[in-house]
Amino acid sequence: MTKSWPPGGPMPLPDYNELIASTKDHSWLSHNPYTDRNDPQQLSIAVRGEGCYIFDHEGKKYLDATGSSHCSAVGHGRQEIADAVSKQIHALEFSGSGLVPFINAPSAKLSQKLADLCPGSLNRVFYTLSGSEAVEAALKIARQYHAQTGNPKKYKVLYRNYAHHGYTWGAMSVSGDPAIRSKIFEPTVPMGVMVPEANPFRCLHCSKTCNLGCARSIEETIKYEDPDSIAAIIVEPISKMAVVPPPEYWEMVVSLCK
Ligand SMILES: Cc1ncc(COP(=O)(O)O)c(C=O)c1O
Repeated sequence: MTKSWPPGGPMPLPDYNELIASTKDHSWLSHNPYTDRNDPQQLSIAVRGEGCYIFDHEGKKYLDATGSSHCSAVGHGRQEIADAVSKQIHALEFSGSGLVPFINAPSAKLSQKLADLCPGSLNRVFYTLSGSEAVEAALKIARQYHAQTGNPKKYKVLYRNYAHHGYTWGAMSVSGDPAIRSKIFEPTVPMGVMVPEANPFRCLHCSKTCNLGCARSIEETIKYEDPDSIAAIIVEPISKMAVVPPPEYWEMVVSLCK
């Protein structure tokens, strides 16, 4: 049965206006090119989620087709997740690992499970709180790996045009998405080197049939930049607009990394 929300019907208008006014006064809303955050008409108050739907302050139902930017991929309002989170927070909400090297059972068990699910030698897990932070960690791990294996000059990171890797400074510096990489944030971290995206819908390399020109141009860039300066390439297997390159593309990119 569909629950009514907010209880007693839609949120009264004065509350809405107050919240909008206080949001405008006290919240720094994320910059986003798709909506005007200064226009109160474009702000909705999300109050409840159920499966793939979000309900706003007026009870209006939205199909959350992006899984709230991939963060709610298993759906909203999942009772078992709320129960598990609540149980853990009641037991212990946080433990720093600085002075005493604490580990905890849920994360150790999850690491084991993820290692079992992941292919090949992907068998270690580093937990972060967001995708951007995960990218920051990956960039640092790449640098650390090269520094500790005798290649401290390997610092450049290849990224693709239009790629979206996050809003933090390092992640933004290896993102080609104009929606997040604004000129006002330049200079970015000096490590990113852009290579072409692999997009069959607007390919600059082939006319009708794919000739893997985009992958070959990565090789050209590596030669131009000096292979001894390249630390990593960062790529989305399925990029933001659901673009999936052909399998041969990945074979070529992987062979370039070896
Ligand atoms: C491929 C990719 N990497 C990183 C991020 C950044 O994740 P977050 O917004 O959780 O920081 C996103 C966000 O959409 C993403 O799509």
